[in-house]
Amino acid sequence: MGDVRALPRVLPDQRALILGATGSGKTTGAAWLLSRSPGQWVVLNSKYDPLLSSLGPGVEWDVGAVQDGLRKSRVVVAHPSFYDQSSLDEVLFDICESGQVVGVMVDELLYLSKGNGQCGPGLMALLTRGRARGQPFIGCSQRPANITQYAYTESTYFGVFTLRADRDWARVIDYTQCPELRRQREPHFWGWFDTRDNRLTEYGPVPRHDIARRFKTKNSSGTIIA
Ligand SMILES: Nc1ncnc2c1ncn2[C@@H]1O[C@H](COP(=O)(O)OP(=O)(O)OP(=O)(O)O)[C@@H](O)[C@H]1O
Ligand SMILES: [Mg+2]
Repeated sequence: MGDVRALPRVLPDQRALILGATGSGKTTGAAWLLSRSPGQWVVLNSKYDPLLSSLGPGVEWDVGAVQDGLRKSRVVVAHPSFYDQSSLDEVLFDICESGQVVGVMVDELLYLSKGNGQCGPGLMALLTRGRARGQPFIGCSQRPANITQYAYTESTYFGVFTLRADRDWARVIDYTQCPELRRQREPHFWGWFDTRDNRLTEYGPVPRHDIARRFKTKNSSGTIIA
């Protein structure tokens, strides 16, 4: 029998980094990935992307409001102000420290990254300590060269669409040591690199029309039954 791999998803102790130039299909790809990933998630919808807004009820950026929303829905969507770095980090820190098994998806990691590969204490806690608590993570970025190094060092998977700048490619190859990831893909095509066995698999466009339906097809305990 041939080598049949299961389609990508992010399990509770795993992290995925989704990278690609603007318009390459990151948010759509990440939403599809989320639809396949078990458990509860809070989505930081920094760009007010309508697809992400449609995945669950909107909540205030406050740990109590997030927890309250998660009592009613598998996925909640927050629109925090990325100009208020301290509140961004505080709430991420609170989510991490709550010990709750909840995943976090950040649609643009640039807003949470500082210079020199650093980030604030909330994202750092989530990336470096969340795994032990079973808190999965999905982060997207259109500028891989400018995001925090912890997003790379803690990542289980890299989903890579087309990038344009040499320095962005260089950063991705530096942290994955997979030069085959660098190729000009057709729009919405992507490579999925699994760091556990250094395997790269190429995929075509995710079924965009199917994403919202998958979020609606859950049983009462939040398990995806589609
Ligand atoms: N798999 C797909 N099938 C059909 N259309 C797609 C698919 N992926 C993306 N698109 C379309 O391409 C456009 C860009 O996709 P998307 O918003 O996911 O890109 P992005 O990389 O997140 O862009 P940005 O960097 O601007 O946030 C959207 O209009 C989206 O509907
Ligand atoms: Mg996007």
